[in-house]
Amino acid sequence: MKRNLKYDIGYLDGFVSDKDLKNVFKEVTKAHELLVKRNGPGKDFLGWMDLPEDTDGGLLGDIEETAGKLNRASDAVVIIGIGGSYLGARAAIETLAPGLTGRKIFFAGHNLSGGYLGSLLGILKDKDISVNVISKSGTTTETAIAFRIIENFMKEKYGSGKIADRIVCTTDSRKGALRRIADREGYKSFVIPDDVGGRFSVLTPVGLLPIACAGINIRDLIAGAKDERKCSSDCDPGSNMSYKYAAVRNILYRKGKKIEILASFNNRLHYVDEWWKQLFGESEGKNGRGIFPASCDFSTDLHSMGQLIQEGERNLFETFLIIDEEGKGCPIPRDDEDLDNLNYLAGRQVDYVNRKAYEATAEAHFEGGVPNSTVSLSERSAFCLGRLFYFFERAAAVSGYMAGVNPFDQPGVDSYKRKMFKLLGKPGA
Ligand code: PA5
Repeated sequence: MKRNLKYDIGYLDGFVSDKDLKNVFKEVTKAHELLVKRNGPGKDFLGWMDLPEDTDGGLLGDIEETAGKLNRASDAVVIIGIGGSYLGARAAIETLAPGLTGRKIFFAGHNLSGGYLGSLLGILKDKDISVNVISKSGTTTETAIAFRIIENFMKEKYGSGKIADRIVCTTDSRKGALRRIADREGYKSFVIPDDVGGRFSVLTPVGLLPIACAGINIRDLIAGAKDERKCSSDCDPGSNMSYKYAAVRNILYRKGKKIEILASFNNRLHYVDEWWKQLFGESEGKNGRGIFPASCDFSTDLHSMGQLIQEGERNLFETFLIIDEEGKGCPIPRDDEDLDNLNYLAGRQVDYVNRKAYEATAEAHFEGGVPNSTVSLSERSAFCLGRLFYFFERAAAVSGYMAGVNPFDQPGVDSYKRKMFKLLGKPGA
């Protein structure tokens, strides 16, 4: 069936039993109640739950129109942001944006590498550019430095006073330096809702504007999330797949599987894995607990990490992320000489071989003591990705509550910043 998301617990035998699943059912129900009654820890940050329903056509229209304007005015749109203000958009764009060449979207502010920023400015020198700068707090150092440098570069390129139409800010409605800049300079701005945390914000303008700039249909993305939200209304992990996934990972964690590898077999999903790592790592890693979320790109990493996964310490479990549809563009040709002995695959698509690599890996790793399950999308589309985003968000919330933590705060994120500010001599640090 098209436009679908499935969760398949194929290789958990001997690690997660029906009895285990039954035993945690009470916890899943409790977590579900905390969410829907909105009375659990972090209850002020549940705005993400209703975004698929609440995002109205007016906002989507404004985002589409703004994306159109930025695209028409420029050869390149630079998205400036980090963490929750970066990864969701990048995940969607890398997964769905058409083609591997001619890309108009560039990213900045997601690291502190002068070399990266310098090269980017070099690339942008001969292009017409627009910028979407994204920061909920409005004060993130990486984002602020990149924005100051690029805004300055634009002032030199176009003349100060002539760049307002090229800059869009996505930030808090009232607070923070970025809000002050947007208001003073007259930059168009979108608001990040108060009740949506960074890692849950991909379906707000944080993700939607860059995604629309990349030419992806944001209405389909929202429609997919809406469908998945409907599937989440039932708290039975027998039918609610995101809750089943949350239950499985908690059961495995309690049995000593401390590391989860999200392993995809499609290079376009690399940044979905990165987004997922922030979502689960920040939601669960607190109070001295938490599954360590890792990721692999297979089959690439089977040739580097495969040994450890197959035979290293048995503290791992895997979740495969698969797109079912097979690409038709790359058949393997027949060769009369067959010197490379590949004729047995002649006529097959490369994606067919990839599929077999996945099936073989799931079985081999299970036999090596790595329990694994699979999330699969029926197609690479905005609709399915919208489902996937919501599926993981809901799972992270329930999984966090099952683990006994507040899944919506991130008290540890600031520790390095305080030290860095001191080292940098920031006034007041
Ligand atoms: O979740 C978090 O707090 C962080 O990873 C943020 O998403 C990241 O630091 C960006 O924050 P901001 O949007 O405030 O610039």
